[in-house]
Amino acid sequence: MSDQTTNPVPDESVAVEAQRNVYIQGASGIKSDLPISFEDMESMAEKRLSAKAFAYIAGGAGKERTILRNREAFGQWKILPRMLRDVSDRDLSISLFDRPYSTPFLLAPIGVLDLAHKEADLAVARAAAGRKVPMIFSSQASTNMETCSQAMGNAPKWFQLYWSKSDDLVRSFVQRAETCGCEAIVITLDTTLLGWRERDLQQAYLPFMEGRGIAQYVSDPVFQSLLDAPEEEPGGKRKITLSTLKTVYSLMSRYPGSFFANLRSGKPVKAVRKFIDIYSRPSLSWEDIPRIREYTSLPILLKGILHPDDARRAMDLGMDGIIVSNHGGRQVDGSVSSMEMLPKIAEVVGGKIPIMLDSGIRSGADVFKALALGATAVCLGRPYVYALALGGQKGVDEYLRNIIADFELTMGLAGCKSVSEISMVNLMKD
Ligand code: FNR
Ligand code: LAC
Repeated sequence: MSDQTTNPVPDESVAVEAQRNVYIQGASGIKSDLPISFEDMESMAEKRLSAKAFAYIAGGAGKERTILRNREAFGQWKILPRMLRDVSDRDLSISLFDRPYSTPFLLAPIGVLDLAHKEADLAVARAAAGRKVPMIFSSQASTNMETCSQAMGNAPKWFQLYWSKSDDLVRSFVQRAETCGCEAIVITLDTTLLGWRERDLQQAYLPFMEGRGIAQYVSDPVFQSLLDAPEEEPGGKRKITLSTLKTVYSLMSRYPGSFFANLRSGKPVKAVRKFIDIYSRPSLSWEDIPRIREYTSLPILLKGILHPDDARRAMDLGMDGIIVSNHGGRQVDGSVSSMEMLPKIAEVVGGKIPIMLDSGIRSGADVFKALALGATAVCLGRPYVYALALGGQKGVDEYLRNIIADFELTMGLAGCKSVSEISMVNLMKD
């Protein structure tokens, strides 16, 4: 008998090791505090977070029918496993813009992470770097991109842009991203207006009003120069209540510089007003997009694409990639899911540019299905925010380990040795 048949292949993969460790530790009565399933993480996070913070993270537009549909769309597809294909070596790596990435995962840009945990973006950045999963820094981050980038060393990172009313600010954001080592720019198209979010409206709560989620702005020289311009005083007097004082306190302490200097200068209040005034540009149109090329030589992706014609238009403009997404159902109630549009978009794109998908990815099987239908990679959203809320950096690290392991095992058990082997033939529709 040859060595091959007498010795089992040593399996050192993340997945098998993670799985083994969970069971070995369990045998000694040790069990992680972080739930394995998304549903359990969400309900535990609901107990841990303030009602306002949870509403902002979990909530969606209107009746939240889009959030529901995002999940249902995955259920319409079934994986059809194949046997006896020697899956002892499983290769999760992919290539994007001529660079190798070790897994088909990215962390979706998520704003205001300090609602989930005080270490916010920094905790996520460190965990992402440890697992070599690229983090897409949000324009609405709680910690600025330079600080996160530094914490990540050479690990991959991208930057997500909200195209504000000031092109000078757009240029400055994009150039800062390039300078601090981001490898791509993601322009989010679906949030030129904020969706009608019942939970947030019911709480009468928007985190930006407390000066949360504006770290990229207040650290920006162009934004600072906009603050120096005289502004119109908002009309009418508002009643000062205990809540007003709390908001002012929170604003002053969050803004760079000393509390009293901030109180004297009134800059934090000005900054919030200016931010609200300029952070999005409802007039944004296809004609604006090519200008981004004057600001950077990085690959550009458009996020929020749902219609095949918009995907075609992105390609006509020479965009380097697209992210099929409905913003986790936060923008339009009763909209199509990103997953149901993926096959139609993949057909139009024809493999010419990479397609990422987000909105509803909750398990390894979901990832497998998205890749089979034509996605090159997926972006993880709410699940990592709950992991952050529950366990900070360690929570995000463990969650990433779990989802990577789940995906790796699903891929192998479906009969695929590598991400490139996953295709439509591995799926069946209901
Ligand atoms: C987001 N999303 C988002 N997208 C973006 O381009 N910039 C941003 O700042 C934010 N902020 C943000 C905050 C919160 C609390 C959530 C939940 C989402 C959308 C995000 O990138 C992604 O599209 C969705 O999270 C995907 O949906 P699921 O999988 O989280 O349901
Ligand atoms: C949101 C913005 C920050 O979805 O993208 O809340």
